[in-house]
Amino acid sequence: MALLEVRNIEAYYGAAVALRGVSLDVAQGTMVAVLGANGAGKTTLLKTITGALDPRAGSVTFNGVEIQGRETWDVAALGIAHVPEGREVFRHLSVEENLRMGAYRRSDSDEVEKDLQAVYDYFPRLRERGRQHAGLLSGGEQQMVAIGRAVMGRPSLMLLDEPSLGLSPLLVQEIFHIIRRLAAERGTTMLLVEQNANIALSVSDIGYVLEVGRIVLTGPSRELAENPDVREFYLGVRDAGVRGTRRWRRKKQWR
Ligand SMILES: Nc1ncnc2c1ncn2[C@@H]1O[C@H](COP(=O)(O)OP(=O)(O)O)[C@@H](O)[C@H]1O
Ligand SMILES: [Mg+2]
Repeated sequence: MALLEVRNIEAYYGAAVALRGVSLDVAQGTMVAVLGANGAGKTTLLKTITGALDPRAGSVTFNGVEIQGRETWDVAALGIAHVPEGREVFRHLSVEENLRMGAYRRSDSDEVEKDLQAVYDYFPRLRERGRQHAGLLSGGEQQMVAIGRAVMGRPSLMLLDEPSLGLSPLLVQEIFHIIRRLAAERGTTMLLVEQNANIALSVSDIGYVLEVGRIVLTGPSRELAENPDVREFYLGVRDAGVRGTRRWRRKKQWR
């Protein structure tokens, strides 16, 4: 049994279908990446896991327990933290207040202080900016706040919605390096959705490719990074000798 099991999720916005029977597994202690272009359904997928959106069909189990249909606070209380698309920090609160918000459910105040220091050790820039309003930070720093806030809840699973969005390549490297460390050092299982296939495949163990609401390909991230179709469509690399019918046939096969 995987820590998180998503089975045949169908999600709609009104009459428009966004997910057409999506299934995936996230094993304990792994980092799984879902790759997809803008509009593929990545955010919708995470929302069906957090309880923010009720799918029309399908199930989501966490630790073997059905969580589909539960409220977001209930899902969060089980140990699933969501780092939403576009960061969503509390702009008028200080960096430290934002981080403490992530621990509001906890009563082990000594451990909360330790975790706050741990977040500052992971993100030294946030320690320097602890008293500043989060709204005054750069996009990269706000992304750090959003990740740090999730860490403060001591989740067993973190859902990360496009942490690379709008950040410089250097900052993307820095933030993903820390995400990797959080996974390794704190044992946090990670489900990441990304348009940036390059970085997502370089840090994750398993990858899924989502195209217009459907999983079309999955495998170990290292293998996906070598897959000619993934290279062409998601990594922007065109390998010599790989084109035309082979690609087309494969795509037909996926669907
Ligand atoms: N609130 C909404 N109302 C109607 N359609 C939506 C809404 N949110 C997303 N969609 C549509 O659902 C599809 C998937 O969107 P989304 O999950 O946000 O994709 P991604 O995160 O991969 O960019 C898109 O076609 C998008 O236009
Ligand atoms: Mg999105």
